[in-house]
Amino acid sequence: MPLTAINNFLLCETPDAWIQSALQHPDMLLLDHANCEKKAASTALNLMYRYVDDFELLNKMSRLAREELRHFEQVIALMEARGIAYTQETASRYAAELRKPVRTHEPGRLIDTLIVGAIIEARSCERFAKLAPSLDMELQKFYLSLLKSEARHFEDYLALARKAAGTQSIDDRIALFLEREKGLVESQDEEFRFHSGVLTP
Ligand SMILES: [Fe+2]
Ligand SMILES: [Fe+2]
Repeated sequence: MPLTAINNFLLCETPDAWIQSALQHPDMLLLDHANCEKKAASTALNLMYRYVDDFELLNKMSRLAREELRHFEQVIALMEARGIAYTQETASRYAAELRKPVRTHEPGRLIDTLIVGAIIEARSCERFAKLAPSLDMELQKFYLSLLKSEARHFEDYLALARKAAGTQSIDDRIALFLEREKGLVESQDEEFRFHSGVLTP
C-alpha cells in the first residue's frame, strides 16, 4: 500500500493539533488546498521549461501538471458549491523554507528540486489520509480519491531525482530535506495553511 511507503519515508506524522486547526478553518483549508494544486502544476511546468532534454521528465511532469490542474478544478468546484470565496492569501512558509537548501549548480539544483517535490507530495498525501476521517462525507471521499495520484507523484519525483543523480547516492540530500521538513511540520506557525505547522495558541 503506497501510504505505508509514504509514512516510512516522512520523519514524522502530521501533529493532531494541525488536524484540529484544519477543522476550525474549513474555508482556508479548501482555499489553500486550491493554491497548492495550482502551485504544484506550475512547479511541474517550470521544470518542463528548464529541462527540455529529458523526455521522461517532460512526460511525467506534463502528466503531473494536468492532474494537479484537474485537482484544482475539483477543489474550486467544491468551494463554489459551498459559497467559499477565492481570495488572495499569503502562502505558508513551508515550501519556501523547505527549498532554501536547494543547490544553485547543476545537477544539484535539479536533484534537490525533485527531492523537495517528492517530499511535498508525500506530506500532502499523508495529510489527506490523516484528515479524511474527520471531514464530511463529500470532502472525505474527495480527499481519499486524491491519495493515489499524490502517492504516484511522490514516486515519480523520487525516481527522477535518483535518475538525475546517476550513480551518485542522493540519500544524504533526502535526509537533509526530510529533517528540515520535520522541523517545519512540528514547529509553531502563525497562520493556518494546508502545509502549516502547529498554530501558536
Ligand atoms: Fe494534486
Ligand atoms: Fe501531486
